[in-house]
Amino acid sequence: MTIETKNLTFTYPGTGFSLRGVDFSMGPGACAALTGSNGSGKTTLGKLLCGLLKPQGGAVLFDGEDTAKWSLGRRGQRIGYLFQEPARQLFAPTVLEDLMFTQELQGISPGEAEARAMALLARFELDSLARRSVLTLSRGEQQRLAICGLLLNKPEALVLDEPTTGLDARRKAILAGVIREVLRDGISVLLISHDAAFVKANAQREVRMEQLNQAPLASGAPDKSADSLGWIEGGSGEGAGGVHEN
Ligand SMILES: Nc1ncnc2c1ncn2[C@@H]1O[C@H](COP(=O)(O)OP(=O)(O)O)[C@@H](O)[C@H]1O
Ligand SMILES: [Mg+2]
Repeated sequence: MTIETKNLTFTYPGTGFSLRGVDFSMGPGACAALTGSNGSGKTTLGKLLCGLLKPQGGAVLFDGEDTAKWSLGRRGQRIGYLFQEPARQLFAPTVLEDLMFTQELQGISPGEAEARAMALLARFELDSLARRSVLTLSRGEQQRLAICGLLLNKPEALVLDEPTTGLDARRKAILAGVIREVLRDGISVLLISHDAAFVKANAQREVRMEQLNQAPLASGAPDKSADSLGWIEGGSGEGAGGVHEN
């Protein structure tokens, strides 16, 4: 799925922070990174892409289709958002029940739901924790469980907001493995992160929020090229996609 924003504007009433006409595009099947300093608007843009915030102007398009009138549920089938605080998106008492709950809502039978949940848990090395309370999980484990929950919707893209916060080197390596697994399924990943080393190791392309959120160019001005944004070239030819400015 190609995800784009066209001249996206958004202002928080309280602080007055604004996105001032952001043009952003991400093609299918790749891992792109959105970087930038603290408070530059990365989380805001991620939430706008996933429909957790509503644009005040401009549009968010999935495969060219304006998503303005889509329900959160319809969007959630296409794109999943991992919160900076993964505990916020875990609902049920135990790990297994958390994944069962989502599927119950989808009308999947308990037997099939449990089989799917256990397979996902095994893939992300959480199966031994299936009966544990979600409250006893480490941050990294909560994150992996939240990602499992998102994957149950079979999304085409995931937005991971600062997923390395609070993870030591070993747990970062596990997260990198999770990202590779997700990409192997053909799901694209937008990695929101200020962890330069993790971005360099795991993303094929990088765009800085400060570049996206400059005042709009005067009409007729030439587009900025990819090179001027300092992208790391990557991907594998056609359809590899990545983040780029229009
Ligand atoms: N709910 C909110 N209400 C008002 N201002 C907010 C809210 N959330 C974030 N902001 C402000 O918007 C700016 C961008 O925040 P954010 O998108 O979280 O940046 P980043 O993720 O790059 O650190 C910050 O100045 C922040 O204080
Ligand atoms: Mg943030």
